Amino acid sequence: MPNDTGFVPQNQRADVLEAALGGLTATPKTLPAKLFYDDEGCRLFYEITRLPEYYLTRTETALLTSIASSVVPDGFRDAVLVEFGGSDETKARILLDRPDSPFTTYVSIDVAASSLTAMQVRLGDVHPGLTVVPIAADFMQPLRLPPLGSPRMGFFPGSTIGNLDPAAAARFLASARDCLGPDSWFLLGADLRKSPRILLPAYNDAAGVTAAFNLNLLRRLNREAGADFDLNAFRHEAVWNDRESRIEMHLIATRDQTVHLGGRRIAFREAESIHTENSYKHTPDRLIEIARRAGWGMQQVWKDPAGLFGAFLFRGG
Ligand code: AVI
Repeated sequence: MPNDTGFVPQNQRADVLEAALGGLTATPKTLPAKLFYDDEGCRLFYEITRLPEYYLTRTETALLTSIASSVVPDGFRDAVLVEFGGSDETKARILLDRPDSPFTTYVSIDVAASSLTAMQVRLGDVHPGLTVVPIAADFMQPLRLPPLGSPRMGFFPGSTIGNLDPAAAARFLASARDCLGPDSWFLLGADLRKSPRILLPAYNDAAGVTAAFNLNLLRRLNREAGADFDLNAFRHEAVWNDRESRIEMHLIATRDQTVHLGGRRIAFREAESIHTENSYKHTPDRLIEIARRAGWGMQQVWKDPAGLFGAFLFRGG
């Protein structure tokens, strides 16, 4: 991550450049969604979660709060909660803060090492008796956990599963199962398929925060990879792809232009798109099927009263 001086380490420049060049020289053009989350991208995403149109975060929080005691399997004691992508412990605390919480260990796996350290300090203050194990790693890669005891429950809230295509989602769920070990449980939070009348405003908010989040990708490439994107020559677009059951985010060139990046000249025609993100909105049956292929058996599904969001409890065989 860039520090206060704006200095970007050479190896980070190379990683960002490599991540961007592959997609920008392909047809159609793409950029990997992982590039969204520099400091400014994280700040903008936090703002998105508070937008009136972006129902996901508040709906999931209310749902998890209402089911927190029911998700704990019978006989669960001295249990381990393993969050994938958990540098922000807000959702985990819905489970950990309960007076009857069975969790005595919280493992958080995230690439953002500095955020993990801050999380450990915060949790240490409110839960001095809880063992907190931060693991700085990419949870999309196969991972071996240190010996932690059992029972174990994986936790993947926030509908991040929707940012993976179905094959990648199944791969992630299978590797999470391997990493958690036999007889473990998994609690997944996922946004559900619904009318585009609700979905489209959530990704096209009136205040333009999602547009700023999307365009920040180009600002990041200018700063960290020496690109020369003109941010006024691209606009944000979110569309509903009904066949794939996903929201797609794009950056659309507003005129013909050439951009320079890593010694390459990248030509854009007016109206040409860079596809920057997918956010799949599965039906419960589809998600249960993806998890089943990854070795997880469905135990229970809860939805909020409006049926917008789902919490899925699975058990590994
Ligand atoms: C992180 N993820 C679940 C968000 C989503 O809704 O797909 C990312 C996001 N993109 C635009 N708005 C929010």
